[in-house]
Amino acid sequence: MIGVFDSGLGGLSVLAAIARELPTADLIYCADTAHLPYGDKEDHYIRSRVLRIGGRLVDAGCGVIVVACNTATVAAVAAFREHFPELAVVGVEPGVKPAAALTRSGRIAVLATESTARSERLADLIRQHARSVQVHVEACPGWATRVETLRLDDPHFAAEARQHLTPLLDSGVDQIVLGCTHYTFLAPVLQPIIDRRAALVDVADAVARQCVRLAGAEALGDGGLTLLATAHPERLQAALPALGLGWLCHRLRSAARLIVA
Ligand code: DGL
Repeated sequence: MIGVFDSGLGGLSVLAAIARELPTADLIYCADTAHLPYGDKEDHYIRSRVLRIGGRLVDAGCGVIVVACNTATVAAVAAFREHFPELAVVGVEPGVKPAAALTRSGRIAVLATESTARSERLADLIRQHARSVQVHVEACPGWATRVETLRLDDPHFAAEARQHLTPLLDSGVDQIVLGCTHYTFLAPVLQPIIDRRAALVDVADAVARQCVRLAGAEALGDGGLTLLATAHPERLQAALPALGLGWLCHRLRSAARLIVA
């Protein structure tokens, strides 16, 4: 069984990529809805949530855990791995490396939560993989919460997104990293603003391929899906069709359940 979790709906973008790659794997997705967003919280708080939710997925029998959240990965994946040294753990980090490899202008941008944007881990990633390019890190407060409302076509949000993106595009940025799993669902709003001036970089498929490499026997199940949430499980289930992931409903074993964690 493979366990995937995030603060809320964002990790569903990673879950979908894993479900496509591993059609027979049994999957559990947990949204820590009662504690979102993670992006404006301190590291110690995020670490305690990651240990709590990840621990519940381990107790449920998951042999692979995917921390489907950049914010949780940068703040807590090291502590989580230390706590469960035998476990296969996959984190999600902003795609700085592919963006640096793809840029022609030598300028890339990373859109991320406040917590990821200020993290030492992101600074390290940039030092390791993007030394020779200019990297603009853009914190996008409130964007993950916007996805949670499912009101993605609000013109006020499009105007806000334009304010963030226009200076980046005008400065010659040609690769824009979606450094938060929630932002995948904002691509339909961001794409028309970007037009053909830059490409969006999303690592969900690369994360799914890493799961394929690690899954082993965990890939061989009935292809069932269990949804759990620390608040409003019914909203998590309703979000699947709203986010274009209605096809995942066919894998559901039962209605989404509330967990206290
Ligand atoms: N989806 C998460 C990420 O990838 C966090 C969003 C949030 O809770 O702030 O960063």
